[in-house]
Amino acid sequence: METGMDSIERFEYDVLVLGAGGAGLRAAIGAAQDGVRVAVICKSLLGKAHTVMAEGGVAAAMGNVDPADGWQTHFYDTMRSGHFINNYRTAEIFAKEAPDRVFELESWGALFDRTPEGKIMQRPFGAHTFRRLCHVGDRTGLELIRTLQYKGIHCGIDIFQEVTTTRLLKDGERVAGAIGYERESGRFLLWRAKAVVLATGGWGKVYKVTSNSWESTGDGAAIAYRADAELQDMEMVQFHPTGMVWPPGVRGILVTEGVRGEGGILVNAEGRRFMQDYDPKRMELSSRDVVARSIHKEVQAGRGTPHGGAWLDITHRGAEFIRRKLPNMYDQFLHLADIDITKTKFEVAPTIHYTMGGVRADPETCATNVPGLFAAGEVACGLHGANRLGGNSLSDLLVFGRRAGEAAREYAMGLTVLPGVDDGEVRLEQERVLRPFAVEAGENPYQLHAELQQVMGEHAGIARDGASLQAGLDKIMALQERAGRIGVSGSRMYNPGWHTALDVGNMLLLCEAIFRGALAREESRGAQWRTDHPDELEDFGRINFVEYRDGDTMRLKTYPVSPMPPELAALFASDVAPGLATAPAVGPAAGGRE
Ligand code: FUM
Repeated sequence: METGMDSIERFEYDVLVLGAGGAGLRAAIGAAQDGVRVAVICKSLLGKAHTVMAEGGVAAAMGNVDPADGWQTHFYDTMRSGHFINNYRTAEIFAKEAPDRVFELESWGALFDRTPEGKIMQRPFGAHTFRRLCHVGDRTGLELIRTLQYKGIHCGIDIFQEVTTTRLLKDGERVAGAIGYERESGRFLLWRAKAVVLATGGWGKVYKVTSNSWESTGDGAAIAYRADAELQDMEMVQFHPTGMVWPPGVRGILVTEGVRGEGGILVNAEGRRFMQDYDPKRMELSSRDVVARSIHKEVQAGRGTPHGGAWLDITHRGAEFIRRKLPNMYDQFLHLADIDITKTKFEVAPTIHYTMGGVRADPETCATNVPGLFAAGEVACGLHGANRLGGNSLSDLLVFGRRAGEAAREYAMGLTVLPGVDDGEVRLEQERVLRPFAVEAGENPYQLHAELQQVMGEHAGIARDGASLQAGLDKIMALQERAGRIGVSGSRMYNPGWHTALDVGNMLLLCEAIFRGALAREESRGAQWRTDHPDELEDFGRINFVEYRDGDTMRLKTYPVSPMPPELAALFASDVAPGLATAPAVGPAAGGRE
């Protein structure tokens, strides 16, 4: 065993940003002004983030294609699709500011597809009343990251790559920095900081079938919880309706909603366009929870494709159109599945894509309940409620990444000295992190990861019921017990077994939170479909479930959902979205129009 606990490299910053996806980079840009010293910690390489998996576009009510669109309609769509447990103020700020953030991105060099008159092109997406997704083919997230990276590195921020953060440090109640290790060398690093922005993304890797890549193990949410931040709506986990299905090695890889936005249709094994049975008005461009559930139901009814999904067909749009608007999908299927999507339909099935729950954050500043700790992007909770609209993730991270970065900067500038760090706390954390090396013949971290994924797939999938959720929670608690005996061998250098051992501890904590929330919410709402409580209940629409730490025990409480002021509530007086009555009949049902 190699410990080397004495060696730890120390750094000092005003603002520390954990996570280098879109939210982290936008936060860092917002923080790095007025001489404020900023560092960004990336678990992976800079630019390698789940942000790139929002392929089909960034949602902003610019009205370039449908002039009747406006922030009120975007707000309306976001709240309705979130089934009203979103924070209305978060959604209001979001809808109002998203267009400016897209223009800003464009001014920093982002490329977009264009309308004939040269405006940013916008495409239809599920449950957006108007064509609203600004895009560049089906590589929008990539373009966003590329632009923010370029802007960010010119703002004078320091970047730590391939570093995992294991603990937030505190000085009394407030945050004082973080401790982590270099993945390559296993060396410990410690950052003292006046403010920390959490932008670490979601935890899709608690499921086996997911669009997420290896980084998405929820480290940020877990360390925030251990530092006494509150986790909200953890039961709300998004199944994107369309992931790849075949061959087995590609199962779960994202098939952008842009395929349906550009006119792709879903068909069952009998050749029926089955969305007419579930949402005849919006069809394939219904909300994600509805489309994912519909595919699941078709498969359960024995009308699935050979490998357990549905057919997605866009061949009618023609080869030139498909290759121009969906170049990534064309390449992806050709190279990974030997399928030419311009010539043939292909199989898709739901895949875990996004976590709507997360660290509870203030709408204006993204401040958490821990002084000095801010949260933005997928790790934060408030905007999306029970179901996120496609494309809202990218505008979310632009709007609230900026707000979090600026608020963290202001907070840091208000402190004259760095908070103190307790060396005893640091030593204990080093011991905890290195403990797996001291366990002989311990539990295998990969085995535990596989088992927890199995539990989540079996007990916390699209369809849930109380008995199965309870059984799943019991299994997770047993896995937590076993995780205390994880053992790894070898040295601290390039040791993925050790990294997985630490990730598993975080994932099991978040699994517990998902189960506790899903058990408590005895109703069906958005992504939470309880077969034993199939109705959406008014009382549950008034509360958010929040998990918090009480010593080593996870406890659950509720907060009331803030009521909307009358002028916003009035938008929901009718079932017709704002702007729609006066607009030409476009909207999602017209999916596929250019
Ligand atoms: O389907 C997609 O392109 C994903 C977009 C998103 O999750 O926002």
